Amino acid sequence: MVVLGIETSCDETSAAVVEGRGDDVVQRSLVILSQDVHRVFGGVVPEIASRAHVTAIVPVVNQALRDAGLSLGDIDIVAVTNAPGLVGALLVGVSYAKGLACGAGKPLIGVHHMEGHLFAQSLEHREAVPPFTALLVSGGHTLLVDVPAWGDYHILGATRDDAAGEAFDKVAKLLGLPYPGGRHIERIAREGDSNRFRFARPMLRRNQQPDDEDYYDVSFSGLKTAVLLAVQGSADLERDRPHIARGFQDALIETLVEKTARAAERHDRRRVVLGGGVACNQALVEAMKMRMAESGAAVYAPSVRLATDNAAMIARAGLFHAERGERSGMGLNAFARMPLGG
Ligand code: KG4
Ligand code: ZN
Repeated sequence: MVVLGIETSCDETSAAVVEGRGDDVVQRSLVILSQDVHRVFGGVVPEIASRAHVTAIVPVVNQALRDAGLSLGDIDIVAVTNAPGLVGALLVGVSYAKGLACGAGKPLIGVHHMEGHLFAQSLEHREAVPPFTALLVSGGHTLLVDVPAWGDYHILGATRDDAAGEAFDKVAKLLGLPYPGGRHIERIAREGDSNRFRFARPMLRRNQQPDDEDYYDVSFSGLKTAVLLAVQGSADLERDRPHIARGFQDALIETLVEKTARAAERHDRRRVVLGGGVACNQALVEAMKMRMAESGAAVYAPSVRLATDNAAMIARAGLFHAERGERSGMGLNAFARMPLGG
């Protein structure tokens, strides 16, 4: 089966072609056009994002088909992200996908963006298939999911406030770093001393029990406030900046790693899959590998292109649903929110 994927949920216009069956799927092409314009505003401006998708969608899809050496007629199904995300941005992809599917007489399938992130890894590592524990950490989401099988998703934990990437971006702003700030924090934290600023690990207590509400959940707003106080209390921010960044990153990573380890151990999973933009953070990936080595579980982290928003993961998830005979009719709509798994 050959699937054309389209992703426009936030500030990346992306199209991709994947081909295969079952878990034997290869990526034939992937085009990602990132909207750099939002950097000027320090965050994604929804209307600008939607308009940029309108401008980019036709050439991006055409390029993905060209790179795959295919024409629209060779495609078996069109997969498109229809939730969650910026609704105006999603509508561009959904409307275009509908027009394309309708015009070419092809079926259409709507894909949940976060389900796409669960599949991203499997395009690079054949072993990164269920059963596994997944940690999805992006600018908009922080989800800890147990995945016994494709299509069977058990949300164990989530953030109570800021997403992990959002916390990176806000702390970067406090430290005077450019947007999006995650990679800048990672860069300067390498020069930081982890003993200079030690922040409390949010929602992480040794005596927590699996039935406790906060056993798997995370929260980053208190950590953000602690960073703000450290910045305000610093007599020399130039000197302290890398140390504060390091203290913040250490606290956030230890929390995510520990919660993921709890999930993997409790469900006896031998694989841990990371996804979302924050999974680009090498300190997180290394810490996760080190912690999981204790129980012998393997950690799979996607490359930058597949960790951040992309259409290959949407095409891959669409292929799974299409093989099960699922189709979305021309009534497919876009939704800002939708729980993973329906
Ligand atoms: O998945 P993504 O590209 O878009 C969303 O769906 O949100 O994630 C973007 C987020 C941003 O918050 C960005 O700061 C963060 O991922 N990010 C990082 C790193 N690279 C990107 N956070 C920490 N370390 C990084 N190296
Ligand atoms: Zn995403």
